[in-house]
Amino acid sequence: MTRIVYVNGEYLPEEEARISVFDRGFLFADGVYEVSSVLRGRLIDNPGHMARLHRSLTALDMAAPATDTELEAIQMSLIGRNQVDEGLVYLQVTRGAADRDFVYPEGVKPSLVMFTQSKPLLQSAQAERGISVVTTEDIRWRRRDIKSVGLLAASMAKMIARRAGADDAWMVESGKVTEGSSSNAYILTREGTLVTRSLGHEILAGITREAVLRLARTSSLQIEERPFSLAEAEEAAEAFITSATTFVMPVVSIDGKPVGDGRPGPVTRQLRELYITAALEQTGR
Ligand code: PDD
Repeated sequence: MTRIVYVNGEYLPEEEARISVFDRGFLFADGVYEVSSVLRGRLIDNPGHMARLHRSLTALDMAAPATDTELEAIQMSLIGRNQVDEGLVYLQVTRGAADRDFVYPEGVKPSLVMFTQSKPLLQSAQAERGISVVTTEDIRWRRRDIKSVGLLAASMAKMIARRAGADDAWMVESGKVTEGSSSNAYILTREGTLVTRSLGHEILAGITREAVLRLARTSSLQIEERPFSLAEAEEAAEAFITSATTFVMPVVSIDGKPVGDGRPGPVTRQLRELYITAALEQTGR
């Protein structure tokens, strides 16, 4: 079965989908995106993703290509057409196609592209055994709160991890962890406090982060939203990342040193369970 993708008003087999070479997403990375997970054929935490999409668009003076209701109808249509039970929907808005110029063009229609990827999210060998991360300098730009399609620095970080034989990278700025290459980063101190970086321009405001912190609060965990150092991370009892595609994923080693006893910790496992339960409740199935 060939995958059906959505491009500017049309549902097309992926090999027939076309975008202009003058699209500013292609020439300037002048675009933003969202990744929503799908469980049991239903979108998870989608209102949060829509809200963040608007924040990204507003930060770049970009018009929304459609209403939220229309965007969600397209997401759901793609899930249906591609029979996605578990996986994700990728949504990208770029400023549109115009003759190459650094100045934003006037009156150009934004481009809207969406596609699905089927993949198992609930059952994961990585979640069972945890992932290893290496730390690397955060060389990204200073507006990481905008979910921009300019992902080369994140891709480079991932490759540094890959070449070091690790699963992922944690990015570090001035001795403090910012976030994972495509996730938010957390530690649990030996005293049992959950620590994750405070929101600001330095990190992306993860939608999964918001949900997980809410669940952590309701289970009476002590939470500190503040930058944490690499030294603290190395001393931590537990560590994990969150994102729409990994949910809560244990981190069991940092730069080759085990976190805690080198196995997914109980608090991390509990938060993963809680998140998945809450996500499945949203599906009503
Ligand atoms: N990335 N930080 C960064 C840099 C990210 O790229 C992501 C998500 C997150 C987590 O955000 P959320 O919980 O809303 O997924 C944090 C997506 C999954 C991606 O680029 O594929």
